[in-house]
Amino acid sequence: MVDNFRIQGERWDSWAPFYDEDVKNQDVSTCVSALADLAGGGTALELGVGNGRIALPLAAKGIPVIGIDASGEMLRQLKGRAQGLPVVGHCADMANFDLGRQFSLVYTVASSFFLLPTQEMQVACFASAARHLADGGTFVIEAAMPLSSGLAGPREQMIVREISEDHLKFSAFLHDPVAQTVKAQEVRFGGPPQEWRMLPNTMRYVFPAELDLMARLVGLKPAYRVADWSGSRLKAASTHQVSAYTRQAQ
Ligand SMILES: C[S@@+](CC[C@H](N)C(=O)[O-])C[C@H]1O[C@@H](n2cnc3c(N)ncnc32)[C@H](O)[C@@H]1O
Repeated sequence: MVDNFRIQGERWDSWAPFYDEDVKNQDVSTCVSALADLAGGGTALELGVGNGRIALPLAAKGIPVIGIDASGEMLRQLKGRAQGLPVVGHCADMANFDLGRQFSLVYTVASSFFLLPTQEMQVACFASAARHLADGGTFVIEAAMPLSSGLAGPREQMIVREISEDHLKFSAFLHDPVAQTVKAQEVRFGGPPQEWRMLPNTMRYVFPAELDLMARLVGLKPAYRVADWSGSRLKAASTHQVSAYTRQAQ
């Protein structure tokens, strides 16, 4: 098996200094409120916690959060920002982890689940998440809808994200519809300093029905699916999905 975990760690270590700039326009308040409701006063586990964009405001609402991530640099930033909040990060692979405890909520956002590049790793992630759920607990995945987000698009694709006098942001995708993977480069030019940056990645996109099947394979029950954190109905044109699975009492 490719050492995806090590590769991801290296990629996100080098992207970590620029990550905040990339996500600065995203409002996380609705997401954080929804996750706080789902945690129901228990402890939450985030898979691919990064530098705490979601985990920190969730902890500020009084929900203790454990986060796992492949990138030591992202985790270092998370630790530096925790400032006494109940957030702890661990370097662990979301495809296969054992934290020796259970949670009322396990969640992953921002299509981080798609960073597991094979179906085998994705099913293993479901199995690990299921083992870490307390009875009645919820596993939630927020991810792009493959067709309307452009992931399951043509064979080759270039998407310009932002352009200005001194700044350029685009994504280049090479799509393999057989493996359901997209080989991607996130490319940035601009600064300061005025320089090029690239984040290479392979994402394996998953349609909702396959997620449900993975859940059933590990004994989780599909609970609900919506288009966003405010609970909008999922439609054919929705760009995102929030899919929730529950672990029934044994
Ligand atoms: C898109 S970022 C999301 C970070 C954070 N959840 C947020 O919303 O800002 C994806 C994160 O997943 C982490 N990651 C990728 N593959 C991983 C794996 N196999 N195990 C654990 N973390 C992983 C990366 O290091 C990165 O921090």
